Amino acid sequence: MAKVAVLGYGTVGSGIVEVIKTNQELINQRVGDEVDVKYILDLREFPGDPYEDMIVHDVNVIMDDPEVTIVCEAMGGIGAAYQFTKTALSKGKSVCTSNKALVAEYGPELLALAKENHCSYLFEASCGGGIPIIRPLQTCLLQEQVVALKGIINGTTNYILTKMELEGADFETVLKDAQSLGYAEANPEADIEGYDVQRKIAILSSLAFGNTVFYKDVPTEGITKITIDDFKYMKQLKATIKLLGMSRYEDGKYFAMVAPFVLTKESPLYNVSDVMNAILVTGNTLGDSMFYGAGAGKLPTASAVVSDVIECAMNPGKTIKGTWKPEKLELSDLSDAKRRFFVRIANANEEAVKVAFGHVQMLEPVYDGEVAFVTDVMTERSYKDIASAFDVVNMIRMDS
Ligand code: HSE
Repeated sequence: MAKVAVLGYGTVGSGIVEVIKTNQELINQRVGDEVDVKYILDLREFPGDPYEDMIVHDVNVIMDDPEVTIVCEAMGGIGAAYQFTKTALSKGKSVCTSNKALVAEYGPELLALAKENHCSYLFEASCGGGIPIIRPLQTCLLQEQVVALKGIINGTTNYILTKMELEGADFETVLKDAQSLGYAEANPEADIEGYDVQRKIAILSSLAFGNTVFYKDVPTEGITKITIDDFKYMKQLKATIKLLGMSRYEDGKYFAMVAPFVLTKESPLYNVSDVMNAILVTGNTLGDSMFYGAGAGKLPTASAVVSDVIECAMNPGKTIKGTWKPEKLELSDLSDAKRRFFVRIANANEEAVKVAFGHVQMLEPVYDGEVAFVTDVMTERSYKDIASAFDVVNMIRMDS
């Protein structure tokens, strides 16, 4: 019998209980044992809730109960969640979580603690919501040298960009929608400034490349500078704008970044819209493999947490083997990365742009006095040097 405690009865926590209760029989059958929720920890009361009798306010009730072998941490943040996770692991209770902030900050330490105590720290739901990606990276793709990861891994920003493009809706209104649908982080700055993707790509890259990519080392730009006008130019380019998290391994060097990119219809990520997420993994012998699904939201995220619960229940007293080692992975400078750039410049003319940037693909300006174009392939360093002489309204990198 595997008794589960859920820490935090918010969106994800209540989803975890719902998934386990909805599929209880099927889960028990597949695990070959009974898996059930024994406690729900929350500071609040939930009068009338069907699982009201499981609510406890004192975490020690859970930590001191030897019957509880699996703890789902759905509190978020890196304060109490970190302390409770450490306590649970040091008592040999496996912890399953969707808390990417905690995983990105303390992953190696918590994985080591789990190993020491013959239990597991699992976080399938931390990247890509309901998409199975963490486990595939650590099982089905073990034979591969991953050479690139490229993903739309934030549901909130993908939802916002999709609505801006298709409905011409303004940023603030769509953000409110995303929050009311339960996609956004408590502080939406993490979504719109790209910090959420920064953590997720750091986690995925650590798993794919084997050593720790520290999220703060990943250069990150969010979507706050993207406007409806940028999307008007996208129509001319038959393209769209997506916030991408990416990392790659090339000539013995590792690179990572988070930024909005222009994607043309040829990209397999072009049609990934609304809250959906997708991660394109390129292996040296496999080639491309894309993982697609609901990237945020109560039940998809909870479903991924419950997949971890099942893995723990099937492996009592064991540590599930992983690929993430604590040694730091050094990321190389992106200044030499080569690509094309979509650029909008104010107070300039076509001639001046051509003299400075060389051959460019000019676009029809949506404003008088603005020049918009796509450069030829150049390094980030060259782009910055040349662009510094102009009044740049916006620049978005071309994905290919
Ligand atoms: N705020 C996150 C997102 C939740 O929008 O993707 C899932 O990690």
